[in-house]
Amino acid sequence: MQTADDNASGALILGIESSCDETAAAVVRGGREILSNVIFSQVATHLAYGGVVPELASREHLRAIAPVVRSAVLESGSTYPDLDAIAVTAGPGLAGALLVGITFAKALALALEKPLIAVNHIEGHIHAVLLEQAVEYPALALVVSGGHTHLYHLQAPADYRNVGRTLDDAAGEAFDKVAKLLGLPYPGGPVIDALAPFGDPCAVKFSSARIKPKIYRAPASGDEKTDFSFSGIKTAVLRHIELNAMGGAIEARRRALAGRAAVPAEDLRALCDPRTLDLIASFQHAVVTDLVEKTMRSAQQLEVSSLLVSGGVAANSALRRAFEQRASAAGMRACFPSRALSTDNAAMIAAAAHPKWARGQFAAELLSADPNLALG
Ligand code: KG4
Ligand code: ZN
Repeated sequence: MQTADDNASGALILGIESSCDETAAAVVRGGREILSNVIFSQVATHLAYGGVVPELASREHLRAIAPVVRSAVLESGSTYPDLDAIAVTAGPGLAGALLVGITFAKALALALEKPLIAVNHIEGHIHAVLLEQAVEYPALALVVSGGHTHLYHLQAPADYRNVGRTLDDAAGEAFDKVAKLLGLPYPGGPVIDALAPFGDPCAVKFSSARIKPKIYRAPASGDEKTDFSFSGIKTAVLRHIELNAMGGAIEARRRALAGRAAVPAEDLRALCDPRTLDLIASFQHAVVTDLVEKTMRSAQQLEVSSLLVSGGVAANSALRRAFEQRASAAGMRACFPSRALSTDNAAMIAAAAHPKWARGQFAAELLSADPNLALG
C-alpha cells in the first residue's frame, strides 16, 4: 500500500524550461531520478547573429514546446494523469521566452487539474548538482552561465543567501563575446574551452584592474560580499586585437565559418594562428583564475564544507580542474553537475520543484514571467 510519505519522496514532476535558447522538458521522480530529459537547442537559429536574439527565441520556443513536452512525457514511460505536478521556470531570463513556457505549463496544469510550481532558473542550476550527489552543508554555490555569475551561501538545500554577483557581464557572456570578437562561432564557451589547450595561457597578461578583485562587508547586513566583473576583459581583448592588427585574420575566419554549424574543433584550430590561440588561452586562464580565486576566498571566509559549481560555464574543463585542485587542497569537496546537466535543461527545474511540492508551495494563478527574478 502506498503511504503519503512514499508519495512525498516519489512525486513525479514534469519540468519545463524556456528562459533562454533551449526549449526543455523532463520528468523527474522524487527530485533525483531522471526518467526523461529532452532538450531542443536553438543554437542553429542564433548562430548567424553571434548571440541569442530574444524575438527569435520566443518564436522558436512556441514552435518547439508542444513536441518537446510530449516527448518528455512519452520517454519517461508515464502518462499525463501520472504526474503529481507541473514545474516551470518563472525567471530570470528573457521575458518573451519565459512566457512561452509559463503559458504552456499553466494551460497543462489547468487542463490536468495538477498543481503548478514556479522555479527560479538559478535555483534550478544549483539543483543540477543536488540531483546527482549528496552535498555536505554549509555549502557555497557558484552559478556561472551566460546570464549569471552568482555566489550563494547554503545552510541547507533550500536556504539560499546571495553573497556575490557580477556587476556587469556574466562569465559565459564574456566567453561568447570574446569568441565573437575573434570570428569564432556561438556559443563561445565550448569553442574557447576546446581551443585554449593549444595556446600559451601566460602569453597575454590582462592587468588585474581589468577584473576587479573585491570582497567587502555589506554595510546593512554585515555579510561578506564578492563582486565579479567581466566587461573589462572583453574590452582588453578588443584592444589587443587592434594593437596587434589581427582584424584581417579574424575577418577571414568569420567568412570561412559563415553558415557552418557544429564545426569540429580541429577545423576551428586549423583556422587559428598561434597568436590567436595564445589570446584564447590567456583569456580563459584569466577568467578561470578570477572565478576560482574569489570563490575560494569566499568559501574559506564562510567556512563551508562543499563547493557547488553549476551553470553552462561549469562545463569548462580548465575551470573544473582548477576548482578540484584548489578545493581539495583546502579540504573541501568541489561538486559539479555532469556535463549534460551543466547547461540549461528541465531536469534541474523538476528537481528544484520537488522540495516545494513537499511543502505545498504552489504558484498562484496570476503567475507571470519575471526577467529579473532574484534568489536569496
Ligand atoms: O546555463 P546555460 O546553458 O544558459 C544560461 O543560463 O545562460 O549557459 C550557457 C553559457 C554560454 O555563455 C556558453 O558559452 C557557456 O555557458 N558555456 C561554456 C562552456 N559550455 C557552455 N563556457 C565555458 N566553457 C564551456 N565548456
Ligand atoms: Zn542557465
